Amino acid sequence: MAYPRSGTLVVLLIVLEVLLSVGHSSPHFIQSRAAYYETPDGLGTPSGACGYVEYGRDLRGGNVAAATQSLYRNGAGCGAFYKVTCKNKYLCADSGVIVVVTDHGEGNRTDFIMSPRAFKTMAKQGKDKQLKALAVVDIDYKRVPYKNPGHNICFKINKSSNYPDYLSLVLLYQGGQKDVVAVELSQEKTSDWKAMRRSYRVVWDILMSPPTGNLAIRFPL
Ligand SMILES: *[C@@H]1O[C@H](CO)[C@@H](O)[C@H](O)[C@H]1NC(C)=O
Ligand SMILES: *[C@@H]1O[C@H](CO)[C@@H](O)[C@H](O)[C@H]1NC(C)=O
Repeated sequence: MAYPRSGTLVVLLIVLEVLLSVGHSSPHFIQSRAAYYETPDGLGTPSGACGYVEYGRDLRGGNVAAATQSLYRNGAGCGAFYKVTCKNKYLCADSGVIVVVTDHGEGNRTDFIMSPRAFKTMAKQGKDKQLKALAVVDIDYKRVPYKNPGHNICFKINKSSNYPDYLSLVLLYQGGQKDVVAVELSQEKTSDWKAMRRSYRVVWDILMSPPTGNLAIRFPL
């Protein structure tokens, strides 16, 4: 992994293979309800509790959701993927929608409060207005892995990282069924692992002088 030299590497998207063993168990669908929130552009909210800021708008094309506390888990559940299917067979397609958690939200017995884009994605063609008119729908959902061949997690270097001493990473997606509870860095050749600090929800940071070579990253359980 390259170390950020300056704010010019903002667009650098780092996709990392996780070193931890990620569970492959496929949990059963859970029955619940989902609602949606309004945004001016129909995408996600940049003010979500996870701290994605501007990435929170169009992560996964705006298919994002605020999750109830048992899924949000004070931020540990941010970046997790859920397959959500609406149970109204007249209005909803079987394909459902895959949402990524970017926010915390409690509704009227809902597990998800979705972006308008995500909510409408559950609808059959031409039925999205009728679906939105319901405001709350019965759903089935389960956690699913982040599917990107060969990778199961995605970080972005936070543009506020200040060269030379400060590195901050934003966890965009997390794969598998387990939460990222710790992040460690080392210079590839030294195996001297240093713990990063969870500075805010999905943001991990560390004070370190610039490494001479590549950095390795791992996620202790
Ligand atoms: C919660 O939802 C139920 C069923 O959809 C409805 O009857 C009730 O009025 C709602 N409660 C609130 C506080 O909105
Ligand atoms: C990036 O880092 C800054 C400074 O540490 C922090 O305030 C901000 O919340 C971080 N997150 C994002 C997504 O920029």
